Amino acid sequence: MGGSLEFEGRDIISIKDFSREEINYVFKTAKTMEPLASKGSQILRGKILATLFFEASTRTRLSFESAMHKLGGSTIGFAEAEIASVKKGENLADTIRTVENYADVIALRHPLEGAARLAAEFSRVPIINGGSGAEEHPTQALLDMYTMVKEKGKIDGLKVAFVGDLRYGRTVHSLAYALSLYNIELYLVSPETLKMRREVLQTIKERIPVVERTSLEKIVPLVDVLYVTRIQRERFPDPAEYAKVKGSYRIDLQALSEAKKDLTILHPLPRLDEIAAEVDSTPYARYFQQVRNSIVVRMALLALILGAAK
Ligand code: NCD
Repeated sequence: MGGSLEFEGRDIISIKDFSREEINYVFKTAKTMEPLASKGSQILRGKILATLFFEASTRTRLSFESAMHKLGGSTIGFAEAEIASVKKGENLADTIRTVENYADVIALRHPLEGAARLAAEFSRVPIINGGSGAEEHPTQALLDMYTMVKEKGKIDGLKVAFVGDLRYGRTVHSLAYALSLYNIELYLVSPETLKMRREVLQTIKERIPVVERTSLEKIVPLVDVLYVTRIQRERFPDPAEYAKVKGSYRIDLQALSEAKKDLTILHPLPRLDEIAAEVDSTPYARYFQQVRNSIVVRMALLALILGAAK
C-alpha cells in the first residue's frame, strides 16, 4: 500500500503492511461507525462476506458477521473445515477460487502460517486474515489498540505489558508490531520457553524500548495496560511441554494489589484461568469492552475495503 490511504480492494494479511497513519485512519473510521453499530446502516447492502474458518472461533467470526449485518450486508461461510469440501481433500487455492465467485470479501482463519497470504495470491476479492496459525491476527491488534485509545485517550506514552504465551499466541505478534509504531514501552512477561518470537523482537527493538521478564510481580505496578493471553495448548508439539507452563500466571486481586489505579486489563479471549473471575468486577477489567469495540473496528474495515466508508 506504500503509505497512501487507499483501502478499497485491499487485503488485510499482516499488520506489518500498515503504517501508523493507516492505523489511525482505521480508528477514525471506527469512531464514525459507533452510531451505526446501534442504529444499523445499509451502506453494504447487496455485499457478501464469506467467513472461511478452518480453526475454532467464537469472537472473530461472529463479530465479522455481526459487523457485516449491521452495515446491511450478508454473510455466508463455514465454521468448521469438517463440513466443507476440504474434508474431501480440496486444497486452499481451489476453495478460494470457488468462494471468490460467491462473495465480495473473504475472512479466513487457518491453522497454517502463511495461509492468508497464499489465499490472497489466488483470490480476486480481498482476503482478511482472521488468524494464520501462530503467526498473526491483524484485525485483533486493531481492535486491541482501538480499545486502548478509548480507555486511555492515546497510545503514545503508554507502558504496556504482555503476559502469557508470547511464542504461540498470534495476537501478541500483530499487536507488538503495531504498537512499535507508537512511542510506548513494552514489557514482555512469559515463561522462558514461551518468549516472544525472535523475528518480532528484532523488528520492535529497533523502534521501542522492550524489557523481557519471566516474573510478573515487579511489572504490574509499572504499567498502564496489562494484556493477558492464554497459553495456546493446541499449538504445543508436546503435551508434556504444555503441562510445564500451564497456569504460569494468574491475575487475581492479590496480583493487582500494587497496580496503578487506572490500569486497564485486556485479553483477546477466550480466557482459561489466567484472569480470576474476581477481577471481572473491578474497573481494571476491560476485556468484554474489547469484544464490544471489535464490532466497530470490523465495520470500519469492511466499509473501507468495500469502498463504502466516506
Ligand atoms: C485469539 C485467537 O484466536 O488467536 N482469540 C481471538 O481471536 N479473540 C486468542 C486465543 O485463541 O487465545
